[in-house]
Amino acid sequence: MKKYKIAVLSGDYIGPEIMDSGLKVLRAVSQNKNFDYEIKELPFGGSAIDQCNNPLPESTLENCKSSDAVLLAAVGGPKWDQAVKRPEVGLLKLRKELELFANIRPTSINESMQSYSPIAITKSVDFVIVRELTSGIYFGEPRELNKKEAIDTMRYNVDEIKRVSEVAFKMAMERKKHLTLVDKANVLATSKLWRRVVEQVAQEFPEVTYDNSYVDAAAMKIIATPEQFDVILTENLFGDILSDEAAQITGSLGTIPSMSSGSFGPALYEPIHGSAPDIAGRGIADPISMIKSIAMMLENSFHRDDLAQEIYHSIYRSISEHTSTPDLGGDSTTEEVTESIIKNIKEGRQEYVKNNVR
Ligand code: IPM
Ligand code: MG
Repeated sequence: MKKYKIAVLSGDYIGPEIMDSGLKVLRAVSQNKNFDYEIKELPFGGSAIDQCNNPLPESTLENCKSSDAVLLAAVGGPKWDQAVKRPEVGLLKLRKELELFANIRPTSINESMQSYSPIAITKSVDFVIVRELTSGIYFGEPRELNKKEAIDTMRYNVDEIKRVSEVAFKMAMERKKHLTLVDKANVLATSKLWRRVVEQVAQEFPEVTYDNSYVDAAAMKIIATPEQFDVILTENLFGDILSDEAAQITGSLGTIPSMSSGSFGPALYEPIHGSAPDIAGRGIADPISMIKSIAMMLENSFHRDDLAQEIYHSIYRSISEHTSTPDLGGDSTTEEVTESIIKNIKEGRQEYVKNNVR
């Protein structure tokens, strides 16, 4: 049996707390299931700045490159606000070095989550945001900051748009066959290029219904009529903003996982939220985003949909039984939620046969 190598980057503040939960669940779900793995914990983010003055030490990067998958919790926080190289610089460098150009951020509301949504959900909501992750304004040059002026540059080329569009269209083919490009093509030159390239890629996928929306209107529709979306394809910054908004309609940012993948090497799995310094150390961080990120890893990097389904079912069972952290209105701790999910995994195996959830 192959022993998979998983690089573990716990990061800062609530990062280690939720990573600890996630790894406990991984251990429980893989027991006696012919799934063998070893984890390598690596310094990253603010804690790596403290250790060696570098948010992404060379050895961390090398270990990530030679692993089968990377798990990341969260980085950043006020402690390193004045650092020359902030923790976020390490995160962007890691994404760039591993060429993780496609970032998949799911939003779905199933029955057990419906009562947590702040908006009245009458129809089924299940869409994914495919966010371009290694270009655009996050990486644009020139970039300048002086006392009187600051400059950021949004730049995209055809190849960068094409490769992430292909991922998004392939995903639409496996889902409800509907793709919406979100841009600002009435103003931005980069958006005009996105439209041209995506329209070409759309011709290769005639079964997929393709449409587009300006980002301001899309922000409104995500709240007003979220059921209309299947796959939302968008550039880096718009995807960052819209995915936090979309998360909120499920009830909590603390439940949303993500997968970032490229054309070679390992994929990376991380919650979409940050390191939540305000609640760190109190034992109340929601571990679900991390645990779901691990389920996404099992499914996508290791093709163990069976184990992923056990995790998803166990999470929803815990939520239905009102074992949840304060972000979902509950009063359970991180540890109690984790223990409850593990208990459900151990008890529930036989029930999780066909009815797939995510
Ligand atoms: C995210 C985060 C990061 C981003 C930050 C921490 C740099 O907000 O993954 O969404 O903007 O990409
Ligand atoms: Mg973000």
